[in-house]
Amino acid sequence: MLSCKIIWITLLVSLAAAAPFEARDEAFFSPSQVWLYGVSSHIIAPTPAGVVSKESTSGNRYSITTLFTFIYPPQVEGKKCHFEFYLDPSSTVNGSAKLDLFSSIRPVRATSNSTAFWSRGNQRSDQLGRLSVSKNASATWDATYNEYLAEKIDCKTPGTVEGFELVGVYDNDLVSWNVSTSGLRIVYTS
Ligand SMILES: *[C@@H]1O[C@H](CO)[C@@H](O)[C@H](O)[C@H]1NC(C)=O
Ligand SMILES: *[C@@H]1O[C@H](CO)[C@@H](O)[C@H](O)[C@H]1NC(C)=O
Ligand SMILES: *[C@@H]1O[C@H](CO)[C@@H](O)[C@H](O)[C@H]1NC(C)=O
Ligand SMILES: *[C@@H]1O[C@H](CO)[C@@H](O)[C@H](O)[C@H]1NC(C)=O
Repeated sequence: MLSCKIIWITLLVSLAAAAPFEARDEAFFSPSQVWLYGVSSHIIAPTPAGVVSKESTSGNRYSITTLFTFIYPPQVEGKKCHFEFYLDPSSTVNGSAKLDLFSSIRPVRATSNSTAFWSRGNQRSDQLGRLSVSKNASATWDATYNEYLAEKIDCKTPGTVEGFELVGVYDNDLVSWNVSTSGLRIVYTS
């Protein structure tokens, strides 16, 4: 019985680890704005390139996270929504290739600027899950801590604004991508 149980658990674990994001031919919407957050400077700035880096050797002086602001478009009305994190072949992945995804208490708005947001920081909220990323592929979930958008859920009402943050996991990691071709997006299906 014991070995049977172990096999069952192993199967469940490997199924969970293998669960991919949905295929890329589905409709999706991209963030309306992508921002870099300097972990030690607390500066938030809009960016054409997403970057998540951790450099513990420098005391995290150059550590960066990426913040995303999504605005639900009209076409998601009545649909199911879930995350996809895609990296095209021109992206950079160095280190563990693991990223933690968090929701934000307050999304960064297009009208904000780094000075105005200095004291507000990145507004990190709940951890939604941990991703394994690779180039020329959609990321897979190592773990999810919240079903919110990690599974297909009812899309928010069009016009809803939400913020998310991708953060490095281990000590010396770098993941970067072109926001016009790659990054976090919300796939919607009927
Ligand atoms: C990638 O990682 C290797 C070793 O892990 C390191 O030597 C190299 O400088 C890193 N490259 C970048 C661009 O961070
Ligand atoms: C940025 O924020 C500062 C401080 O609140 C403000 O003085 C400045 O006008 C803002 N700039 C823009 C372009 O919104
Ligand atoms: C990307 O993946 C596709 C199919 O998965 C493959 O045909 C293509 O050669 C890959 N491109 C690169 C640059 O790795
Ligand atoms: C990002 O992708 C766009 C669209 O393919 C391209 O025009 C632009 O040159 C790319 N930027 C960089 C820095 O590669």
